[in-house]
Parts: sequence; C-alpha cells; structure tokens
Amino acid sequence: MKKHFVAASIGFSLLSGCYYDNVEDLYGTTPCDASAVTWSADIQPMMQAQCVSCHSGASASAGLDLSTYTQVKASVSALTGRMNKAVGDPLLMPPSGKLSSCSLTKMDAWVAAGAPQN
Ligand code: HEC
Repeated sequence: MKKHFVAASIGFSLLSGCYYDNVEDLYGTTPCDASAVTWSADIQPMMQAQCVSCHSGASASAGLDLSTYTQVKASVSALTGRMNKAVGDPLLMPPSGKLSSCSLTKMDAWVAAGAPQN
C-alpha cells in the first residue's frame, strides 16, 4: 500500500512538473484582446509611447512623422515591416527592442481592419 502511494506521488510530481502553456505566461497577467482594436484607444497611444519621441517635428527620424493619424496611415506597411523585424536586426523599430507580441498583434488586427481612424 505504501509503495503504491510513493509511486503515485512520484508519478504525480513528474506530471505536474511538465511544461504547459497558459494565457498568463504567454501574454502577462491580462490576456491579449485584439478583437476591438481602435486607433484612439490602442494604436495612437502605442505610437505616442514608442515612436513619436524620434518620429515627429522638424527633425523627425528618416523624415517620418508618426504623430498624426494621416501620417501613420500613409506609411502603415513600412511601419509594420519595421516593427516585425527580428530582434538584433538594425532595421527593427523601435531601435530599443521589439514591442510586445500583444502590441504587434493589435497593430496587425488594426491594419487588417483597414487601419481605420476609430
Ligand atoms: C530612438 C529613436 C527611434 C524610435 C523610438 C523609433 N524610431 Fe523609427 N527610425 C529611427 C531612425 C534613426 C530611423 C532612420 C534609420 C533607419 O532607417 O533605420 C528610423 C526609421 C524608421 C522607418 C523607415 C522610414 C523610411 O522612410 O525609411 C520606419 C518605418 C520607422 N522608423 C518606424 C518606426 C516605428 C513604427 C516606431 C515605433 C514603433 C519607431 N520607428 C520608433 C529612430 C527611431
């Protein structure tokens, strides 16, 4: 009887030690919800926080101003191209490192919806 218990305990620890995916591990504490992405709630704040420090005003990097909807929309495929470069690629934007997978997923969802000004 005791042997069975030991065997069962070992079996259980092996099983529970196995790697498993869950939403929290993959996306942080809040799951990534890309079902209702909008310019005003998601994309504009992302541009402000991640891009506009370099890409705005008279000395905008690469002459690219990302401070308005019109200008983001006009260059949207260039933006996603640069944002999805591999880590370590000198063309990756922002240069400080790749955005979170949730941010990139939201950007893709917004572009797929036609990059609306909503
Ligand atoms: C720390 C400053 C900095 C930040 C922040 C930054 N960029 Fe850039 N970006 C640059 C510089 C400098 C260049 C020009 C050199 C190059 O092409 O890599 C550039 C070039 C680009 C280009 C190419 C434009 C062209 O016409 O060739 C795109 C597109 C771009 N950035 C998008 C973004 C996006 C989107 C973000 C935010 C997610 C961002 N950048 C954040 C500095 C920055």
